[in-house]
Amino acid sequence: MKLAVIYDSRTGNTRQAAEWIAEGVLSVPGTEARCFSIHETDDAFIKEAKGIVLGSPSYAAAMTPDIHVWLQTSSGKLDFPGKMAGAFATEQYTHGGGDLVIQALLHFEMTCGMLCWSGGRAFGKPIIHLGPVGVNNNVEAHNALDYYKDNFVTYGSRFAQKAAEIFG
Ligand SMILES: Cc1cc2nc3c(=O)[nH]c(=O)nc-3n(C[C@H](O)[C@H](O)[C@H](O)COP(=O)(O)O)c2cc1C
Repeated sequence: MKLAVIYDSRTGNTRQAAEWIAEGVLSVPGTEARCFSIHETDDAFIKEAKGIVLGSPSYAAAMTPDIHVWLQTSSGKLDFPGKMAGAFATEQYTHGGGDLVIQALLHFEMTCGMLCWSGGRAFGKPIIHLGPVGVNNNVEAHNALDYYKDNFVTYGSRFAQKAAEIFG
């Protein structure tokens, strides 16, 4: 079963988070995970994927303009409807809008008719309500993206377990 992690990333944080999610996905037997920048997708793989996780940095507490445009222009030809869907974000401030980015991505996925899922509290701790958010250390010296690695990996593993239940 194929699962795709698709992201926008200018300075590498969201790409790193995507790779951690894919690492979690791959821990579930029978799954194949690939990460794609919105600027370099493999459309055949994405079309075949049973689930898609979308990720964006927080830009003014919103998804980036580039991923917004990409979603508007590409989702129609990539067979989004009916696939499982999730979302994640990175930010540089603890309260920098990551949850809002995820919420907007989930809204978009819902409008496509995707099966939005985060795990919520279904798996116990760590509870990941809407999707994982990582805060980098651009501004906050006490923070670092690495501190959030486990949440991204765990999220990927849970997402793949649920996808296997539904589509396996
Ligand atoms: C135009 C712009 C706007 C940003 N706005 C926010 C913001 O509102 N809140 C925040 O926490 N970080 C903000 N950031 C920082 C990025 O969200 C953060 O560094 C992110 O991890 C970058 O992801 P990337 O390395 O994948 O490009 C902004 C960065 C840019 C370039």
